[in-house]
Amino acid sequence: MTASSPLHLSDLPALRAAVSSWRAAGETVALVPTMGALHEGHVTLIAEAKRVAARAVVSIFVNPTQFGPTEDFSRYPRDVAADLAAMAGAGADAAWTPDVATMYPPGFATRIELAGLTDGLCGPLRPGHFSGVATVVTKLLNQVRPDIALFGEKDFQQLQVIKRVVADLDMAPEIRGVPTIREADGLALSSRNRYLSAEERSRAPTLHAVLAGIAAKARDGGSIAGPVSEGVATLAAAGFTVQYLSVCDAASLAPVERVTGPARVLAAAYLGRTRLIDNVPV
Ligand code: PAJ
Repeated sequence: MTASSPLHLSDLPALRAAVSSWRAAGETVALVPTMGALHEGHVTLIAEAKRVAARAVVSIFVNPTQFGPTEDFSRYPRDVAADLAAMAGAGADAAWTPDVATMYPPGFATRIELAGLTDGLCGPLRPGHFSGVATVVTKLLNQVRPDIALFGEKDFQQLQVIKRVVADLDMAPEIRGVPTIREADGLALSSRNRYLSAEERSRAPTLHAVLAGIAAKARDGGSIAGPVSEGVATLAAAGFTVQYLSVCDAASLAPVERVTGPARVLAAAYLGRTRLIDNVPV
């Protein structure tokens, strides 16, 4: 079977017309929100979208409001032609590529803020980030109105934030998490991996190895303080600057001292100028 090109939609009436025509034919619709620079992680989300719904819409929007002033918004990789080809290969039905003026027209004044879930981990390190994510994902869900939207566990705090917003605001779509896709050496696929030098890339898998080691030790229910400080030391020795390395309750993301229920080991660390995040289940 040869994949046909997805519809390429950049204005809201065209998007709404396409989705309405599918709905009129009784078809279900899935949404995969992305910022482009698609890799196998995104492709897996799109394939899963096609497994759970008749139609898959992939949004590409590099959302300025979720980047801090010193972050990589202007150098974030953008290649819509390559993204459309990757989407076609994965069986996507439509690419939704609004521009900034469509998403944030003059006078735009609304932001979604959360309490609790964003108090730890990436929240304090990236002020405004999750508010930007929550607001843009709410807009994307309201634009496409899918039955289901898929997000990667790679961005675990983001996934919990989106589940919270959708539940709190009584939004209709089901939110589904998809396990992290990794390179053979364990490094989680990320659009930002292309910033790594060859030498940094060779050290990058240490992050996942450390998280997996802590998860294995945490499973026996003992104190996790020792394994966590050993993990921080291992990462520092490999040249990482660790921002956090924590074991948290999988739903509330509150830190735990020993594991008694579903938990997650999460970390953020710089390797050179590149910020890497990863997490694994306990
Ligand atoms: P982006 O970083 O492009 O990621 C799009 C989706 O792909 C997210 O749900 C992310 O968790 C998932 N993803 C990324 N790497 C993955 C991997 N290795 N395995 C599985 N899934 C992976 O996350 C965003 O964009 C934005 O914040 C967005 C939600 C689109 C809002 O702007």
